[in-house]
Amino acid sequence: MSDTPHPDGDLSGKHIVLGLSGGIACYKTAELARALVKAGATVQVVMTEAAEQFITAVTMQALSGRPVFTSAWDDRAVDGAANNMAHINLTRQADAVLVAPASADFMAKLLHGRADDLLSLLCLARRVESCPLLIAPAMNREMWAHPATQRNVAQLRADGTHIFGPASGEQACGEVGDGRMLEPEELIEELIGFFRPKPLAGKRVLVTAGPTFEPIDPVRGITNLSSGKMGFAIARAASEAGAEVTLVAGPVHLATPRGVRRIDVRTALQMFDAVVPGAGHHDVFVATAAVADWRPASLSEQKIKKNGSKIAPIFELTENPDILAAVAKQALVAGRPFCVGFAAESHDLLKHSREKLERKQVPLIVGNLGPATFGRDDNALVLVDAQGHRELPQADKLTLARWLVGDIAMRLADRDSPTQEKKQ
Ligand code: C5P
Repeated sequence: MSDTPHPDGDLSGKHIVLGLSGGIACYKTAELARALVKAGATVQVVMTEAAEQFITAVTMQALSGRPVFTSAWDDRAVDGAANNMAHINLTRQADAVLVAPASADFMAKLLHGRADDLLSLLCLARRVESCPLLIAPAMNREMWAHPATQRNVAQLRADGTHIFGPASGEQACGEVGDGRMLEPEELIEELIGFFRPKPLAGKRVLVTAGPTFEPIDPVRGITNLSSGKMGFAIARAASEAGAEVTLVAGPVHLATPRGVRRIDVRTALQMFDAVVPGAGHHDVFVATAAVADWRPASLSEQKIKKNGSKIAPIFELTENPDILAAVAKQALVAGRPFCVGFAAESHDLLKHSREKLERKQVPLIVGNLGPATFGRDDNALVLVDAQGHRELPQADKLTLARWLVGDIAMRLADRDSPTQEKKQ
């Protein structure tokens, strides 16, 4: 796991009760505990007897920086409470209980409200309205697929439990399928997203990201330096804000944000086809991609070779369709999606952004300085609309993406609010 700190200590101020039930995935929870602390959370570990067969309380204590609780009969005081009842006090200051791994057996216990060990006891005794229960299942694929487990999953969801994962892949037993616990960094991303406000709940957001690659021959092409990081951060921020997100990505090597549907494309024409026909089914379209303006007019089927004549080949270029302008044109008639364009400029940012606002007929353009942002983890933005402009100062791209998504959510709410309609 990378040592890069999470932007702005994404979990700072959060107190998490981290519960471990029995499963080989306990080894991942050691790293999860460390990652939670690095993200700014305080972590109180509680382990079942079965979990102690897989990892020791000493390890978890060292990583969380707090004594571990394992027994319902443990009468140590928690947070100075006088009643010495760990099963009550452990969750009273907690922002969530996260059980990782949650075994099939532990899920069955939760479902029935059984409470014969400290972890299940505190899950039952927590205040449901202030201390949500989050579980990360981990088990063999047959156990996961079993109707009993699936019934339990459905009922736990109905009872308000949030279920992270599981992932699919190779299992400790050697079988391959659903049931792997999510990786620590995936669980951290889920948890951070869980705590974010949800102003885009129920909305559908479409994002383009990255460069396009316009082939010249089978081994060469025209592309640009866009890394895709800003667009991926926007997709993540929109997903965290509760939206259903589709990300149409040019050729980049970035991990897909959790919960985001990704469509990979290579050329501008492919991006156009992946975006334009379905764009009208979305509430928001954010065109972050650095789409190539031109493509070679014809593709050479074979690698273009030097022929010894010293005369360099000449390419004819043809213009690519403007994806944003095409969606914006539809939106003028259909009333959606709300279109946001990006302007990556090298100078006169405000002037060019405003020109783009008018040329593309969109309600919002986000300007940034191309050479200063391509490939980097931070950026500075200026939001330009018909009324004026607002600067978002230098920050990491996820922080900027969250501000931008918050701003877009407010614009949608303003547009949709009945009071606004009355004023007009
Ligand atoms: O026209 P220009 O490339 O300067 O505008 C940039 C904005 O338009 C970006 O939001 C970009 O994603 C979008 N765009 C597009 N299709 C193109 C060119 C640009 O969607 N062919």
